[in-house]
Amino acid sequence: RPGAEQWVPERPTHPALLEAVQACRGCELYADATQAVMGSGPTDARLLVLGEQPGDREDVEGEPFVGPAGRVLDRALAEVGIDPAGVYRTNVVKHFRWSGTRGKRRIHQSPTAAHVSACAPWLRAELSVVHPEGAVLLGGTAGKAVYGSRFRVGESRGRLVDWPAGLATDDPPGWVLTTAHPSAVLRADDRDAAYSELVADLRVAAEALA
Ligand code: URA
Ligand code: SF4
Repeated sequence: RPGAEQWVPERPTHPALLEAVQACRGCELYADATQAVMGSGPTDARLLVLGEQPGDREDVEGEPFVGPAGRVLDRALAEVGIDPAGVYRTNVVKHFRWSGTRGKRRIHQSPTAAHVSACAPWLRAELSVVHPEGAVLLGGTAGKAVYGSRFRVGESRGRLVDWPAGLATDDPPGWVLTTAHPSAVLRADDRDAAYSELVADLRVAAEALA
């Protein structure tokens, strides 16, 4: 059976996941990446933030959200009163997908639906370890991973919604907030406006946690 399932420990703990993910061959993305990047943060976190996949910096350092997008995310979280250090941050796909270079930076390619589905067992295992009260989904890839291919950020962002009943997890987050990806903020023509919209959405998550 394709996908990550056979590499996921049967009784996952966070340290076990960190180690086991490095051996995953559930899709071909391991081949061009430096290492897998498992989610990171306190396992008793009340909030889980879900991105797309590690970027260039994350691939090198082995930690999620340590590059430019992560800095935007941390600043926005802090601005709404959420301590970034208290959040569990992870990605839909654990290996960096890229193709070609621009200067010294490798060019990010979004994962396909097949990569997302191959990698899903890791996220399922993380949810069974962390049990967050709420989840923030950053961008289209995270939204589609949870709600399916018809998900659009613009149609649902900034409102509390339910974790979908169809998506198997023992103890799903009690609410979900979807918003734009911080990388999209960095690419926006009007960065300040895009950043303010991200902050406004995250404020809804902060209120749900208050
Ligand atoms: N973008 C993501 O979606 N995740 C990361 O970890 C870094 C950048
Ligand atoms: Fe395994 Fe996910 Fe990496 Fe593919 S992207 S090899 S499924 S960890």
